[in-house]
Amino acid sequence: MQDILEQLEQKRAAARLGGGQKRIDAQHAKGKLTARERIEVLLDEGTFEEWDMFVEHRCTDFGMEANKIPGDGVVTGYGMINGRLVFVFSQDFTVYGGALSETHAEKICKIMDQAMKVGAPVIGLNDSGGARIQEGVASLGGYADVFQRNVMASGVVPQISMIMGPSAGGAVYSPALTDFIFMVKDTSYMFVTGPEVVKTVTHEEVTAEELGGAVTHTTKSGVADMAFENDVEALLMLRRLYNYLPLNNKEKAPVRKSGDPTDRLDLSLDTLVPENPNKAYDMKELIVKTVDDGDFFELQPDYAKNILIGFARMDGQTVGIVANQPLVLAGCLDIKSSVKAARFVRFCDAFNIPVITFVDVPGFMPGTSQEFGGIIKHGAKLLYAYAECTVPKITVITRKAYGGAYDVMASKHLRGDVNFAWPNAEIAVMGAKGAVEIIFREDKGDPEKLAAKEAEYKARFANPFVAGARGFIDDVIQPHETRKRIARSLIMLKDKKIDNPWRKHGNIPL
Ligand code: HXC
Repeated sequence: MQDILEQLEQKRAAARLGGGQKRIDAQHAKGKLTARERIEVLLDEGTFEEWDMFVEHRCTDFGMEANKIPGDGVVTGYGMINGRLVFVFSQDFTVYGGALSETHAEKICKIMDQAMKVGAPVIGLNDSGGARIQEGVASLGGYADVFQRNVMASGVVPQISMIMGPSAGGAVYSPALTDFIFMVKDTSYMFVTGPEVVKTVTHEEVTAEELGGAVTHTTKSGVADMAFENDVEALLMLRRLYNYLPLNNKEKAPVRKSGDPTDRLDLSLDTLVPENPNKAYDMKELIVKTVDDGDFFELQPDYAKNILIGFARMDGQTVGIVANQPLVLAGCLDIKSSVKAARFVRFCDAFNIPVITFVDVPGFMPGTSQEFGGIIKHGAKLLYAYAECTVPKITVITRKAYGGAYDVMASKHLRGDVNFAWPNAEIAVMGAKGAVEIIFREDKGDPEKLAAKEAEYKARFANPFVAGARGFIDDVIQPHETRKRIARSLIMLKDKKIDNPWRKHGNIPL
């Protein structure tokens, strides 16, 4: 018996060593943690239950039968994050560069299937050279098996991808199908084709970092949500994100009460919006002063900055925040910001997270680049997302809500549950100046008359009461009581239930 126990320990020790000490040292030298060290940082201490430690590949080509490493390049299992269940796979770059074999894929699929059975999120720590080249199509099949599961799990359990090394070729598509992508600066990259292929095909010279590094994907492409300095920071932030999320689409997010009173008033908000309607202000200030403890977990902070998205809590309950940001492009909606917000609204809707929308939007961005790029279709995504969304929706218009953008930003007409406006809000087809220039075009040469008409238009339309008179605004509120009014609305909406008509699925303008 003693022998068997010793053998087991030896086998475990061999598995834990992955591709060997030399490769572990190389991993550390790059500033990266190993697959197992990452799991240790991610999960609550001592909670990891590993599965399939003894799985080996079945490849017999290129002398592979003599080179089997237990675990086959991915560590899988489940554990806890702040006491809540999570399934995890962590690719081991020290074993064939973390490349995905048939059995490696089977291990990932196994924990994904189990996560779906019990209704718990899946976190993937990606660090892989892509398809295991020695295995050929068996490996490609393995990828597709993972993709299929990603799609089936979408909207059922949250899926989060952390890119902590290479993620190239088809390997990018599993992360792309998940809800959130985090990246580590300098050590991770994602691209469909690498710099060599790019050079051959398009004659562009580009480094891996420029083509698909963390900065590229969090500022230019919008593929990734956030970038972090190193593995440890990234994993600790992932733990924070996890706290906002429910385990699955049938549950609500965990409530974490704080000492922040829901009737807290903030008088500084009364002067947040400048008197000059063309002057910008920081919408983030409103968010931070409204939510519990000023704690706003912003997503995609460096991409399409004209809209802000992220998680916060109100009275301990997770809420999704969407807000126009007047500091950037005057808060206009353009292609990138529409898509950014639409995807976030859909995540919140899928996972029972109420959406709070702060509106200060002068409209959709004009111009050929926007029209040629398909702002019609992409703007419609946000409209679609808000319109189909059935979770509680609370909207606060702080200043401008012009034109189509007024409709889009969770207006009453799109089943917004509560629409508040601040007293200086302007809910109109467009700004007074633009409106007068169109209606009174023939008076172009008479600035005095135009100024008088502009003042008249402003007095008539640039306020929240015209919309209020029609019931499009439920109440005009004092800025300082915004937190209190939202908190009360959330209590009223606690048991909200509406269903969309039965259908196989809608046809969002992709
Ligand atoms: C098998 C691989 C491998 C792979 C790396 N290795 N990638 N083994 N299959 N795909 C092995 C290396 O042989 C090496 O083994 C070890 O992993 C570490 O690799 P290095 O090259 O030494 O590391 P580094 O210099 O950091 O470079 C990492 C890398 C590079 C950039 C990922 O290894 C690379 O370019 N690999 C090939 C990438 C690729 O073309 N993948 C297929 C993409 S197509 P030793 O024994 O020396 O330690 C694809 C299709 C999927 O993925 C389609 C799905 C639909």
